[in-house]
Amino acid sequence: MRNKVTKAIFPVAGLGTRFLPATKSVPKEIMTLVDRPLVQYAIDEARAAGIKEFIFVTSRGKGALEDYFDHAPQLEQELKKKGKDKLLEVLKSTNMDSGEIAYIRQHKALGLGHAVWCARRLIGNEPFAVMLPDDVIAADKPCLQQMVEAYEETGGNMVAAMEVPADKASSYGILDVKEDMGSMVSVRAMVEKPKAGEAPSNLAVIGRYILSPQVLRNLNKMKSGAGGEIQLTDAIADEIDGEGVYGYRFNGRRYDCGSKAGFLQATVAFGLEREELRDDLEAYLHEVVAARKAAE
Ligand code: UTP
Repeated sequence: MRNKVTKAIFPVAGLGTRFLPATKSVPKEIMTLVDRPLVQYAIDEARAAGIKEFIFVTSRGKGALEDYFDHAPQLEQELKKKGKDKLLEVLKSTNMDSGEIAYIRQHKALGLGHAVWCARRLIGNEPFAVMLPDDVIAADKPCLQQMVEAYEETGGNMVAAMEVPADKASSYGILDVKEDMGSMVSVRAMVEKPKAGEAPSNLAVIGRYILSPQVLRNLNKMKSGAGGEIQLTDAIADEIDGEGVYGYRFNGRRYDCGSKAGFLQATVAFGLEREELRDDLEAYLHEVVAARKAAE
């Protein structure tokens, strides 16, 4: 029997410079799609995949994130008094039990690999997930759940993969595919942000991973080796000839909410998913598009 994946690391210590000035005081992960912060989408996805321990790698200025997961007894009392049962349920569904959530501080933004390494003592010797809350994935079956099911067959290391247009490949880590098995590929190499025309495929890695503890040991070696940013991709790639690395083509649509364009698209998409908002929002979108066309 393979070890079950019950722990997830959420690296949220980045500076979020693309959303300045908002991120001067609001952590990016607390920004909302409709009425839920980005991080809530990630937590819900993790829970659906069987995650029981949630490890956040944070940094200075992320206090609002910790507050968000606290119970809010006063607010709950108020809602109860006013008979707002539905809202009370919504509020309670965001509560995290004591001991379920842990915060580790990354003292310097030394990159994603370093952020993951910061959580090593809480992971120990078992496989774990890494989720970047910037990547919000709309899917019938939550993306991490799809991956956990696939991982039960393969073991090793698994990264979520998605096809991207050739002219966008240089913004991603790209997989060099050894064998294509349909929803799964085995990986020969991983190329971080390839130059134009040099991408080995159109399969890009996005922010969901299931990793073996060996990757933490690889990060450990890199930490004591070269200085500067520590790349998670390199530590995973070291396992290609070891425990193996697989790319998983998930079913669903990913929104890059770390970018303004992606965030706006996600806002529209998730707004249209809500029954109470759909009709008005759709009518408004038609109106705006028609007005722009008429003005051209
Ligand atoms: P990004 O590349 O999106 O960087 O990080 P960022 O700082 O969040 O945003 P920009 O580019 O300045 O706008 C991808 C993920 O890795 C985390 C981020 O919090 C985000 O979830 N990260 C990045 C860390 O936790 N620590 C780091 O040192 C770097």
